[in-house]
Amino acid sequence: MGKLVSVVGARPQFVKLAPVCRALERIGCPHDIIHTGQHYDHQMSEVFFDQLRIPRPGVDLNIGSGGHGAQTGAMLAALEAEFSENRPDAVIVYGDTNSTLAAALAAVKMHIPLAHIEAGLRSFNRAMPEEINRIVSDQCSDVLFAPTVEAIRNLEAEGLGERSTLVGDVMYDAVRFNSAIAEQHSTVLADLQLQKGKYAAVTIHRPINTEPDTLRSLINTLSEIGDEIVPVVFPIHPRTRQVLGRDAISANGGLRIIDPLPYLDMLLVVQNAKLVLTDSGGLQKDAAFLGTPCVTLREETEWTETIELGANVLTGSDPDRIRAAVNEIVARPNADWSSKLAQHYGDGDAADKIAAYLVDWLSQKTESVV
Ligand code: UD1
Repeated sequence: MGKLVSVVGARPQFVKLAPVCRALERIGCPHDIIHTGQHYDHQMSEVFFDQLRIPRPGVDLNIGSGGHGAQTGAMLAALEAEFSENRPDAVIVYGDTNSTLAAALAAVKMHIPLAHIEAGLRSFNRAMPEEINRIVSDQCSDVLFAPTVEAIRNLEAEGLGERSTLVGDVMYDAVRFNSAIAEQHSTVLADLQLQKGKYAAVTIHRPINTEPDTLRSLINTLSEIGDEIVPVVFPIHPRTRQVLGRDAISANGGLRIIDPLPYLDMLLVVQNAKLVLTDSGGLQKDAAFLGTPCVTLREETEWTETIELGANVLTGSDPDRIRAAVNEIVARPNADWSSKLAQHYGDGDAADKIAAYLVDWLSQKTESVV
């Protein structure tokens, strides 16, 4: 059997990688991990490998932070050197980060077969760096694993239908596998003194929301919500924290800012929150998977099913719309959309489908070379 290499670098990719690692291991497929080093803080990286029991990466490129061009370029050069030395039989990339883009470009230019997990997502907002990363990575890939029917439609519209396979969402696999483990092992609710159903959880890290004026307005709105409607806890992304410090933006008592949380703790915090407010892609779904209503602080979402389910509402960064959405959610009991999750995100076995497909695909490739 040929050798697969996964390239990851940022927090959401570690979550997607974990079920794929397990599935490949179950069917005995050799698999290595390359970490680009895009996320390097212990709380953003190592703790995810520990909690999700992901094998240590064979290679860490230690690229770290930088502008989009510098960061992506450094990764591209380092990956090309690495693939030249240890040529994999196929490369797997995940999601939409600069690490995804760099690995996709390195592989396609070296004629190494490329598979993209979480293909076909589109916000149709080309100002988002992630949107460009998605479009380019999908175009470069030989095999496109789409998480949703909507993603398949997007790929078909771009002429990529024949390379695409609907497998379900590996993040749904991850939540289903880990929520019981989180219940057993995490003490986060007691540690943070959070009462079930009596707080909101927030995350903000998108460039559009971390512009100083927008972030200041969001922090004010969230502080008011925290004081007047429901206490808010905010595990903060390092970049967002940097902007707060640099521009002297501060929160009031009702908004509690804490360090980024490890995956299992975050699952429990989301599951037990009255609501989530976020601009993250992954957290919108985690909230839907765990039965918690979500207010998305963006004007569009790639995960349109969450809106159809009634699990998510878009408010952008507008204070009045955010307040209205929070008031609406706090005033009513949470709806139950759990019976409809499988029809959108699969049965929690997306990674097994991906692993089976990859093994079959690799063996066909090896045969055609022989
Ligand atoms: C990246 C992804 C985004 C994903 C997000 C999840 C791109 C274009 N964006 O955004 O899609 O949703 O990760 O978190 O790839 N930093 C630290 N410590 C770290 C990591 C980052 O301090 O461990 C700081 C650095 O100052 C860095 C900045 O955060 O410059 C931005 O990090 P970067 O990885 O480039 O992008 P994210 O904003 O995290």
